[in-house]
Amino acid sequence: MDKIIVIDYGSQYNELIVRRLRDLNVESYMYPSTFSYEEALKIKDLKGIILSGGFDSVSNSSLSFNEDLLKLNVPILGICYGMELLSFYLKGKINKAKNSEYGRSLINVDNNSLIFKALPRSFNVWMSHSDSVSFEDEPNLKIIAKNQNNEVVGFSYKDNLYGLLFHPEVNNTDFSKEIFLNFISICNAKREYKMDNFVDLMVKEIKEEVGNKKVILGLSGGVDSAVCALLLHKAIGDQLISVFIDHGLNRKFEKEELEERFVKKLHLNVLIRDFSELFLDRLSGVTDPEEKRKIIGKTFIDCFTKVSNEFSDVSFLAQGTLYTDIVESGKGGISKVIKSHHNVGGLPKDLKFKLIEPLKTLYKDQVREIGKLLGLDEEFLYRQPFPGPGLGIRVIGEITKEKLDILKDADYILRSEVKTNHLDNSIWQYFCVLTNIKTVGVMGDNRTYNYALSIRCVTSIDGMTADFYRMDYDILAKIANRIVNEVKGINRILYDVTSKPPSTIEYE
Ligand code: XMP
Repeated sequence: MDKIIVIDYGSQYNELIVRRLRDLNVESYMYPSTFSYEEALKIKDLKGIILSGGFDSVSNSSLSFNEDLLKLNVPILGICYGMELLSFYLKGKINKAKNSEYGRSLINVDNNSLIFKALPRSFNVWMSHSDSVSFEDEPNLKIIAKNQNNEVVGFSYKDNLYGLLFHPEVNNTDFSKEIFLNFISICNAKREYKMDNFVDLMVKEIKEEVGNKKVILGLSGGVDSAVCALLLHKAIGDQLISVFIDHGLNRKFEKEELEERFVKKLHLNVLIRDFSELFLDRLSGVTDPEEKRKIIGKTFIDCFTKVSNEFSDVSFLAQGTLYTDIVESGKGGISKVIKSHHNVGGLPKDLKFKLIEPLKTLYKDQVREIGKLLGLDEEFLYRQPFPGPGLGIRVIGEITKEKLDILKDADYILRSEVKTNHLDNSIWQYFCVLTNIKTVGVMGDNRTYNYALSIRCVTSIDGMTADFYRMDYDILAKIANRIVNEVKGINRILYDVTSKPPSTIEYE
C-alpha cells in the first residue's frame, strides 16, 4: 500500500497527522528525527514525507532535517517547525515574528497552488509559532500564503516541497481535510488503507512467517489480546494456542463469558488454567497496594511461563501491543511484524519465542474496527476498562476468597442495573470496591456487623482525569437496596463523589 510517513520533531499534534492520513485511507507511520535515507529506501511504496511541527524554534533546536531524504524525490510537506527546516535548506531566513501567533489566524492563500486547490482565497487556520520566515528572490520558490501582518506562512518549491507555518492537522484549521487530500494527490498516493485490506495483508504475512509452527498467546479478557487472537486464528487456525490464566480476581462470570464468546461462538482453541489458589496463597496476609500489584504481576508471569514451557513445539509468542504503546516508548516507525523476542509487558527474557505483534501499527479504534470485522460483538469491543490486577485492587486490605465472593456478587448487581437502565454508554467506568470497614446494621430484628461497600462510577475520556457520575437517585437506591438484600456480608452502601484529581479512579 502507498505510504506517506511523518518525521517527528516533537510537536504535540504529531499523532494527529498520522491519524489524518489514515482516516483518509493512506497508510502512515511516524519516525524519529534521526530517520535516515537508507531506512527510507527500505519502505515499500513510500510516496511522500511530512516533517512535523516541533516544540522549539529551528534557531534553538538541534533537531535538523536530513537533506539526503531529498534524493528520494518524493513530495515533502513541512508543517510549522518542519516548514522552518525546509526554509533553512532553501536559504530562507528565520526571524522572530512581529507577533507570536497562538490560536486562530486568518490567512490569504494562492489557490492556484496545488496544496490549496479548490479552497477559498482566505480562511482561518490554527497557528502555534513565534518565528517568521523570509526568502531572497529564488525563481523556483513561490510564496503561497501570508498572514494579516503580510508575513510568509506558506511556500512551495518546484511543486515538490511545501511549507505551511500553520497546523493543517488540527480540526480548528478550516479545510484541514481538503489540504491533506491535496497533499495526497500531490504525492500521487493511492488511498487503499482500509481495515479489511489490512486484515487480508496481515493474514498473508502471518501465514508466511509462521509456516506450520505454533503460536502461544495470553488471552487476558481485554479487547487487544482478543482481536490479536482472532487475527492469528484467521491466519493459522488451531496452530494458535490461547492461554487464559484464571487468577480468581476476575469479575463474576468472566471465565464463563470468555468460554461462550471465544470457544463456543468464535471457535478459538483456548486453554483455561485455574491458578486462583496459587494467587490467593501468595496474596495471603498482604495489605500494601503496591505489594499486591507486584505479587499479582509476578505470579501471572510465573503461571504463563509454566504453561508455555509445557509446549516444546511452540516457536512464537503473540502480543496485542498497539501503535500507541510503541510510539510512547519512543520506538516509533514500523518494522516487520515478526522479530526476535524483546522484553515487553514484563515477560522474562528467557521465554524462547519469537514475538508476533500484528496490531502494533494500529490505534485502539482501528483495533475495534478489526475486532468487528472478525466477528466480535460491540458490547465486548466497547466494554469498560478493567485493570490488569483485577479485583485484587478493589478489595481493600487483605484479599480472601470470602471477600472476593462478596465483591463479585455486588459488582455483578451494579453491572446488571447499569445495563438494564441503559447507562453503560454514559458511564466510563463503574464498579464496586469492598472497603475494609465493618459497620453495625439491623436486619429484621437482628444486629449485623458487615462490610461497607463503595460504588464508584466515573465519566472520563482517557482515564487521566475523571468526574463522578451523577446517578439518578432512584436508580442508585435500587442498586443499593438490591446489594444489601441479595449479597450476604454487606450492610451499608457508599457512593463515591470524588473526582480525579484529587482521587484516583481505583482505590489502590
Ligand atoms: P487510576 O486509578 O490510576 O486509573 O485513576 C486510571 C485507569 O487505569 C486503570 N488502571 C489499571 N489498568 N493495570 C491496568 O491495566 C493497572 O495496574 C491499573 N491501575 C489502574 C483504571 O481501571 C482506570 O481505568
